[in-house]
Amino acid sequence: MRKRDVIIACDFSSAEETMKFLDKFREKKPFVKIGMELYYAEGPSIVREIKRRGHRIFLDLKLHDIPNTVKKAMAVLSRLDVDMCNVHAAGTIEMMRAAVEGLTREDGTRPLLIAVTQLTSTSEERMQKELLINATINDTVVKYAQNAKEAGLDGVVCSPLEAGMVKKACGEEFMTVTPGIRFADGEAGDQVRITTPARAREIGTDYIVVGRPITAAADPVAAYRRCVAEFVG
Ligand code: C5P
Repeated sequence: MRKRDVIIACDFSSAEETMKFLDKFREKKPFVKIGMELYYAEGPSIVREIKRRGHRIFLDLKLHDIPNTVKKAMAVLSRLDVDMCNVHAAGTIEMMRAAVEGLTREDGTRPLLIAVTQLTSTSEERMQKELLINATINDTVVKYAQNAKEAGLDGVVCSPLEAGMVKKACGEEFMTVTPGIRFADGEAGDQVRITTPARAREIGTDYIVVGRPITAAADPVAAYRRCVAEFVG
């Protein structure tokens, strides 16, 4: 079975702030997520620097374009030696296949590739009225996950509350990466469909992505350890 892990969302706006945060982790080097804000502010150098410090990296840039463009962009990200990256499943199976091709290095290795199904910020009402997707959110998430599997991807990003049905539809080996995690005694912030690290473990998700409960904690290292203890055990 795959090893569960906690990924810290490094939602900072500069390299300076990020390094100040990562400097606190003297023993275990956590798996970190670099999102659009930090990547667009600092470029590929931030990936190289964090990698050099010994962290694994999920580069969360959510690519969505024509297949050829995604393929070429993925080849660049693959050379950056990230451990995990992602695309929007809405880009179609053809686009996802192109992403896998672009990512795959000459020696056959490649970073893990996952797909965003429906963003957790999209309500069913908006999806139906604005995007004209005449289905439930759950059916859409499952269908997009099946498309991602068919295209050869390793898994999906989804709400922890959707992880169970994705596993049921796509198999235990199909990976789920889930944000929306809060401690039972913590603040929800702007997240709505949330769950605790312990409950995420019960649901059977593979990775949890945790931002503010760690980055905004008075003692981030203690908060990270608490997440690992509850989720990984
Ligand atoms: O601070 P918080 O724990 O809410 O951070 C969650 C992280 O996961 C953020 O980087 C956010 O952009 C990301 N994310 C999310 N919901 C999604 C996809 C990504 O919260 N559906």
